[in-house]
Amino acid sequence: MRVLLVGGGGREHAIGEALVKGGAELYVVSKHKNPGLARIAKEYGLAKETDVSKVVEFAKKWAVDFAFIGPEAPLEAGIVNALEEEGIPAVGPTKEAARLETNKAWAREFMERNKIPGRKMFKVFDDVEEMKAWIDSYGKPVVVKPLGLTGGKGVKVVGYQLRDNEEAKAYAEQLIRKDGKVLIEERTDGVEFTFQVFSDGEKVYPMPLAQDYPHAYEGDVGPITGGMGSYSCPNHLLPFVTKEDWEKALETLQRTVEAMKKEGYPYKGILYGQFMLSRDGPVIIEYNARFGDPEAINVLAILDDNLVEIAQGIIDGNLRSARFENKATVVKYIAPEGYPVNPVRGVKVEVNEKAVAREGAKLIFASIDENYTLLGSRALAIVGVGDNIEEAEKIAQSAIKHIRGPIFYRRDVGTRGSIEKRIQIMRELGKDFEPNIC
Ligand code: GLY
Repeated sequence: MRVLLVGGGGREHAIGEALVKGGAELYVVSKHKNPGLARIAKEYGLAKETDVSKVVEFAKKWAVDFAFIGPEAPLEAGIVNALEEEGIPAVGPTKEAARLETNKAWAREFMERNKIPGRKMFKVFDDVEEMKAWIDSYGKPVVVKPLGLTGGKGVKVVGYQLRDNEEAKAYAEQLIRKDGKVLIEERTDGVEFTFQVFSDGEKVYPMPLAQDYPHAYEGDVGPITGGMGSYSCPNHLLPFVTKEDWEKALETLQRTVEAMKKEGYPYKGILYGQFMLSRDGPVIIEYNARFGDPEAINVLAILDDNLVEIAQGIIDGNLRSARFENKATVVKYIAPEGYPVNPVRGVKVEVNEKAVAREGAKLIFASIDENYTLLGSRALAIVGVGDNIEEAEKIAQSAIKHIRGPIFYRRDVGTRGSIEKRIQIMRELGKDFEPNIC
């Protein structure tokens, strides 16, 4: 089976490894050569992932059987539509179905008209004065969102990136002047979690829940990044997410896939629900139309099924299983000093790959070249898998010392202290539950 993988980050390295393990002959297109993927790919093409015609050209030249799309930007650019027009099926939603991620106002309106559980109050404005008057009359803290993709940097929340509703109005005004529209939502308090599912357009197969650490620095402070690390638990829940919460969140994703089919945009690929666990249950903060990065690395490390068969099931509409081992995983990303605001670039780091492997950890390559030169974004990820979270965290942590240079990472990813903090947040919100320290 000849498979084209689009994208060259840590998420795609994990996808590529799982495809090769499943028997694929791998072909990759991305804008930089990921050294981990280069080692396992039959051929590697360099092109921007959003350069749809170039990617299609590579797919035809290599006569691939299907494509697997990693990031969201090529989905927005219509890469799945373009490949399908050439008779090349793909794992990933069409441009229209990807609007769940690429048009946040469309996604909210879709949830509303289909009465999908996990909704929240929202308004879309194109008029500055109306927006200001509404925020004044609403009175409670709001979230301000650009409608389109911003790489996680556009969403601002009162109490976090915005001091108060006055700052929210000023930011929303900027967005209306720049984009013509803005999305305003009620703020939901709680703890965020990631729920990824495979969907063949009808059926949904859940993956283990994961928790991402989006802030740059320990203690959940500093700028928002793509994610500095993540963990998952052996029972596939999270310490503060009960089975009942999980069932409600799964229902949200199932109902989403059903409604997408009903509206004529069958959703085929990976659907990622970014949920906020509020006192009243899980609420959708955002949909993503792809695997999470780093969360893909967690779940694919314990996939107990063949990803090539899963991909074929998604494409053919007859997905039959997606099993995962009952293991804990911890992923710690290593980023250049200064990331994400002013990252060091062009500097080499020392990576002792053999020593990392001796610790029992796995190395994932991202924004780094084959000479270990930093390219400016998250560079490497270290993955620990264990029978419990403590063991998985220790494995990842002990391997990090074998990487040296102008880099940083979050020591607290997957630690007991950071997990207790999230349990405490839920307790303070009044949630009555028995935490499962995994
Ligand atoms: N880790 C967050 C994301 O992939 O969107």
